[in-house]
Amino acid sequence: MSSFTETILAWYDACGRDLPWRRTRDPYAIWLSEIILQQTRIAQGRAYWERFMAAFPSVEALSAASEDEVLRLWQGLGYYSRARNLHAAARQIVALGHFPDTLEGIRALKGVGDYTAAAIGSIAFGLPAAVVDGNVYRVLARHFGIATPVGSTAARKGFTALAQSLLPPDRPGDFNQGMMDFGALQCTPAAPACLLCPLTASCAALAAGATERLPVMQKAAAVQTRRFDYIYLRWQGRIAIRRRGPGDIWTGLWEPLVRGEAVAGSTEGVICSREAKKTAAGSAEGLICSRELRLLKAGVKHQLTHRTLLVDFYLWEPAQEPVLPEGYIWIDEAELDRYAKPRLFELLIAELP
Ligand code: ADE
Repeated sequence: MSSFTETILAWYDACGRDLPWRRTRDPYAIWLSEIILQQTRIAQGRAYWERFMAAFPSVEALSAASEDEVLRLWQGLGYYSRARNLHAAARQIVALGHFPDTLEGIRALKGVGDYTAAAIGSIAFGLPAAVVDGNVYRVLARHFGIATPVGSTAARKGFTALAQSLLPPDRPGDFNQGMMDFGALQCTPAAPACLLCPLTASCAALAAGATERLPVMQKAAAVQTRRFDYIYLRWQGRIAIRRRGPGDIWTGLWEPLVRGEAVAGSTEGVICSREAKKTAAGSAEGLICSRELRLLKAGVKHQLTHRTLLVDFYLWEPAQEPVLPEGYIWIDEAELDRYAKPRLFELLIAELP
């Protein structure tokens, strides 16, 4: 075993985080934690993991739930395809009759890529597969002085091979989690704790004064901004919502009327009370009768990973029953709680009078 590996394992034993999914060998519990942690920080993911384990203590319980129940419990975590895949994979596992215990078998589950398969395989079954994520890149790039830009295919291949060569066959799960924690707690991006580091004697970046320059990052893609209006349509105790289709953000979640960029070509210009339709007939846009609209909150900025959303939130309480655009349904307002919604919509509901 290399001294690097020995040091990471000893550090993990002494300083690794005490997390509830590390106190079990149940592959279901470990798989659930890895799916939640795919794009979520531990501080937030932990509460969700606990809620899921309480609601669905076994893969059978999860597979017996409806997709809506799963989406509702997932609400607020984002990347909802993870929740849908989780549910589909629970059904795959139940159909299989047991949790798959090979890398190929785990990798065949919906929502599981190379990283997650290596994490689950090594942690739950002791399979010799190294995980490579941002933390691992950083620790390896600094310690071994590697300047290949992270994000390139060459980097993925090189870092994976290096991590694999360092993996201890008897404790692959601990090593992988030790690397994750070491990167998250010790060898941090902005201010690594080099003074207290057990690897100072062999760290190439420290010797060269290059911790700030490593790892070398590729330029990030530009973040796109989208503007639209959310219109909360309330008529006689009922409200109008629709379920979002595939191919964009928030697939499967429910939202109020939308006007603007987000739905260009669909609802824009269609939402209209009968009266407003008449009065608006001569205008270029033919939108909602503006007298009945109340702006509740303007310029709400909501950050998604690859998009910034800029939203104005309106309440529309028309005098007459409006004609709903295609795809929208009426529900009792009191029932809204039961529908899985984007976090943004949840936040805006708090603004309603
Ligand atoms: N991120 C993803 N999986 C993790 C794990 N098992 N421990 C800590 N952070 C993680």
